[in-house]
Amino acid sequence: MIKKYVFGTPFDTEAMVAQIPAESDAVPYFCTDTSDGLRFTLELESSDAIYGLGESVRGINKRGYLYKGFCSDDPNQTETTNSLYGAHNFMVIEQKERIFGVFFDCPSLISFDVAFTYFDKLIVSTENKNINVYIIDGSSAYEIIREFRNAIGMSYIPPMWAFGYTQSRWSYADRDSVRRVVKGHRDLNIPLDAVYLDIDYMERFKDFTVDSKAFGDLEEFANEMKEQNIRLVPIIDAGVKIEDGYDVYEEGVENGYFCTDKDGKPFEACVWPGMTHFPDFLNPDARLWFGKKYKILTDMGIEGFWNDMNEPAIFYSQNSVDNAHKLVKKYADKEELTLKEFEELKGYFGSRQNCDEDYSGFYHNTPQGRYCHKDLHNLYGYNMTRSAAEGLAATEPHKRFLLFSRASYIGMHRYSGIWTGDNHSWWSHILAELRVLPGLNMCGFLYVGADLGGFGCECTRDLLLRWLSLGIFTPLMRNHAACGTRNQECYQFENPQDFKHIIDLRYRLIPYIYSEYMKAALNGDMMFKPLAFEYPEDETARHTEDQLLLGNEVMIAPVYTQNALGRYVYLPEDMTAVRMKEGNLSFEDMKKGHHFVEIPENEVVFFIRAGKAIPLCKSAESTTELNKESLELIGSGNEYTLYADDGISKDYTNPENYRKLTK
Ligand code: GLC
Repeated sequence: MIKKYVFGTPFDTEAMVAQIPAESDAVPYFCTDTSDGLRFTLELESSDAIYGLGESVRGINKRGYLYKGFCSDDPNQTETTNSLYGAHNFMVIEQKERIFGVFFDCPSLISFDVAFTYFDKLIVSTENKNINVYIIDGSSAYEIIREFRNAIGMSYIPPMWAFGYTQSRWSYADRDSVRRVVKGHRDLNIPLDAVYLDIDYMERFKDFTVDSKAFGDLEEFANEMKEQNIRLVPIIDAGVKIEDGYDVYEEGVENGYFCTDKDGKPFEACVWPGMTHFPDFLNPDARLWFGKKYKILTDMGIEGFWNDMNEPAIFYSQNSVDNAHKLVKKYADKEELTLKEFEELKGYFGSRQNCDEDYSGFYHNTPQGRYCHKDLHNLYGYNMTRSAAEGLAATEPHKRFLLFSRASYIGMHRYSGIWTGDNHSWWSHILAELRVLPGLNMCGFLYVGADLGGFGCECTRDLLLRWLSLGIFTPLMRNHAACGTRNQECYQFENPQDFKHIIDLRYRLIPYIYSEYMKAALNGDMMFKPLAFEYPEDETARHTEDQLLLGNEVMIAPVYTQNALGRYVYLPEDMTAVRMKEGNLSFEDMKKGHHFVEIPENEVVFFIRAGKAIPLCKSAESTTELNKESLELIGSGNEYTLYADDGISKDYTNPENYRKLTK
């Protein structure tokens, strides 16, 4: 049962697709205070658990920290980070006497003090007094989540090839660099389905242009790649370069499609291309206009995109430059600066990136009126990606495209996936990825993955092996790294066969991973589940923060510490351990309870639940070459219901897509 509570006159975020009438009484369970912004307080007992909040740091159970729903361009994803790239304000609260879900549909900053200030209180607060709150009662976490997911609409479904292994780097700067990456994999028979083009493929970082010196005729090159079953996936950034003669810039100015400053002039800010304007994705005409531009690249044979810098990221604005001039002028004649003066200068220049002042300084022209960006901040990346999805659907309505975004809000899950942004080559970020998966799934984001091997810092061989051993289970499987960091393609390291075996296992699992993905999308279920949801009566399972269930059959427990012999694994029921060693699989039946499982860094171990079976195919160099017909079942069960379709068209509900496999 889902109920809607309206505060003030909320902006319609279109997070929900269900039409839910507003209740007239108070939000249940919470004590509500509307005097200074909005404040919702819930008393907690020490055994109560709180799940959700999508892309956020720390545990699967979110208790004990302060989180903020505010799309943030912050690569420092440490324990102390309050907000990441996405704002996903949905939680499931499990208390002794009840379990319920709550969605705060708040397009601006919202704070979740989850037993942080007071160990026995959840306090949710917003400055914005105009929001919708939804309460969902049910008898289990699964039931509540299914009801919520039903109300927010079906999750995005990528093409089958997007489940292959993909390689990225900022940047493969020309055709030869891309060819070398493909050859590096193909020579060693390491499967690969796509190579990403980061910002340097463009002409001076201008969206929908191609640097023809470096990439020649992109259509020709995309075809050359496709002959090897490789797709090229270019990046698109939010900011449009200000440059005379650049059609996207000129059309945007002419039609009033850019966000404006307080005086109604296009807002100017610096991102990768230098000074840019931001398309007003909250204006449906601008959204349609920008979305149709993707056709420039699809006409060249491109079938996938990643949308970036769409919080939006702002290095500094023209306004900051003007103020900086004033400040510099103020001290220009001074030979010496006092410490206070020095701090003033340092403070000013050091705080310009993504600053509050800039987010308060530009506006959107929406069908619901003119709004300050700050009040709709969380909807920007969502609507950029919606623009792409709608544009692509207008061009080719029956075809699936790969699409994922950095910034997001609930509602965007209908249009694309996400990657979790700029992480680091840190061991803690393997665990961080594992822990974020269920929360994302709860909020509808199923096509998800982290930069494998880590984006920032130097990747080591053992880190990549261990991270891939988790990455083989995530729908988006992409190795990506920042410029200036060590090369981290698998073939750059010693004994590349170890990497090949792990990625081969991914390809063997694709029929299963795809099938579970599709079932989760079509039924509003989670693909990655905390043990707590499946075994709510089992206290150990409820407190397990480093293992997950994948689909209905598998449990994963990856190693996330360096130089480890293996790890402790808790089996909440009898399971079959599947071990991949040098490309071969072996099986061991294990009893419910605690075990130390040895897992050398070039082996993978995962678990199949008692009485369940999963399909495996043979590996291949790309998803196109996978023989998905010849499947073998492994595990102690005798049957599995497979979902399979052509992987590219949109006939999802055809009953023929389901097939019962038996041993
Ligand atoms: C941002 C993205 C990253 C990309 C870089 C250059 O930091 O998050 O993935 O490589 O920009 O485009």
